[in-house]
Amino acid sequence: MSKLTESPAWQALRLHHAAIENVHMRQMFGEDPARFRKFSLEFDRLLFDYSKNRINDQTVRLLIELAEQARLPVWIERMFGGDRINNTEHRAALHTALRNRSGRPVPVDGKDVMPDVLRVLGSMRRFSDAVRNGEHRGHTGKAITDIVNIGIGGSDLGPQMVCESLKPYAADNLDVHFVSNIDSSHLTDTLNRLDAETTLFIVSSKTFTTQETITNARSARAWLVERLGNEHAVARHFAAVSTNLEATSKFGINPENVFEFWDWVGGRYSLWSAIGLPIALYVGMDRFEELLGGAHAMDEHFRHAPLDKNIPVLMGLLGIWYGNFFKADTNTMFPYDQHLHRFPAYLQQLDMESNGKRVDRDGQTVDYDTGLIVWGELGSNGQHAFFQLIHQGTRLIPSDFLAPMHSHHPLGEHHAIMMANCYAQTEALMLGKTAEEARAELKAQGLQGATLEALLPHKVFPGNKPTNTLLFDRLDPHTLGMLIALYEHKVFVQSVVWNINPFDQWGVELGKQLAGKILPELRDAASASSHDASTSSLIDYYHQHR
Ligand code: F6P
Repeated sequence: MSKLTESPAWQALRLHHAAIENVHMRQMFGEDPARFRKFSLEFDRLLFDYSKNRINDQTVRLLIELAEQARLPVWIERMFGGDRINNTEHRAALHTALRNRSGRPVPVDGKDVMPDVLRVLGSMRRFSDAVRNGEHRGHTGKAITDIVNIGIGGSDLGPQMVCESLKPYAADNLDVHFVSNIDSSHLTDTLNRLDAETTLFIVSSKTFTTQETITNARSARAWLVERLGNEHAVARHFAAVSTNLEATSKFGINPENVFEFWDWVGGRYSLWSAIGLPIALYVGMDRFEELLGGAHAMDEHFRHAPLDKNIPVLMGLLGIWYGNFFKADTNTMFPYDQHLHRFPAYLQQLDMESNGKRVDRDGQTVDYDTGLIVWGELGSNGQHAFFQLIHQGTRLIPSDFLAPMHSHHPLGEHHAIMMANCYAQTEALMLGKTAEEARAELKAQGLQGATLEALLPHKVFPGNKPTNTLLFDRLDPHTLGMLIALYEHKVFVQSVVWNINPFDQWGVELGKQLAGKILPELRDAASASSHDASTSSLIDYYHQHR
């Protein structure tokens, strides 16, 4: 057994789990009228209700002991303080510095990074203002009407999710598009709708070596040059965001339109950096800074609130409670807000690329489960698709429900109906429906005897399914910043307890290496080397059918 599973806090949780495993939340709510007050927190107009979880006072106390045993407060300070906590890449993880609005310095190896952060924010403001007010025009003198962000993973999902979430704040005269997929249909479908004279491309890539992004960027460049008939047009129609300034200049991007960030910003944590340029263009730099402000507010909460009053800490620990003790495999999130429709996809990268690790910080194979599988869908839509499995399937699936108190587009009873559905789901998941309740309902409908008994088991809901509910006032930039930072810190909390490095992603490398080897073999049948029988046959099939 590893140190973690042998530890006193872990062992105490195992014993406690055995004692509480079969206790129903109906009973817990029945026995404790103060349960909601006890297990909910409010911070900056964000309500976190975690009372519909399979926990009692002792569970929370033991989970906090687990966090203390893992020295979570020390790790939090190490992260904020710029220590090189990404130990396999020897880097700090300082996404919090990108949204540091406190005026405090943030040193990395004794050098304050804040002057560089503020300088790039200033360049983003100048550039986004110039494009938005028509000062920066296309090669033929027309104002820019469309931004195309070319990137993938963290250089796509974060800015895309934020732009979708903040649509109500967008300028009328500027649209934004995201091209990530190497399937040429993505680029082609996007460009078919656009006019080269009024289109600005942002090539977003931390490394500027990502095959998909560079290939899409080259094709976009060729499209632009062909349409505008002039290589010089590239200077006014291409910008880049990267840590690799040598590569952006090699690609031929005007250095005035290059926005840098630094190796201490992880790809999936980068939307706060210049990777957020499409956000600044779409909603304006003031709104982008409000987003940073919201994240900073959550950072301060995470850094200073006591562990048992700390929303990201509690969310992270609840995930561990279900993943490691109840053996839940997945964790879902259901935003009841149309504008958050890309949030689950964004969260999948954030969580699974961070905590999908099988060795600990010292390279030892872990003997406990780490990152849960994350999935989700817009609230009301999901109800009519897969909620059946959550209610009556055999697996335990802890879920987060997110909803605003106010819609950006109030319309009749829409919001009340949406909220009724959101609340009804968490209530149904917690309460379930007993055989007695189901029998009484069927009898009231006129059923009896064998017909009633045959239907009865299908009408029973076990309930006792855990949920968190997060309510916020309105999906504005500040609130969105808070929500994103909340999930970032939740992921960090879990990584600390599991003793894994959440800031590297070596698991994506093998596929990239092998794709590099297979590509020449697809280009030229003669160059085929030996693979396993399946892969060789698939390569042959490709040549036979092209
Ligand atoms: O392959 C995974 C990954 O490296 C992600 O971590 C990253 O967000 C994405 O690819 C894109 O990388 P880049 O910004 O360097 O193009």
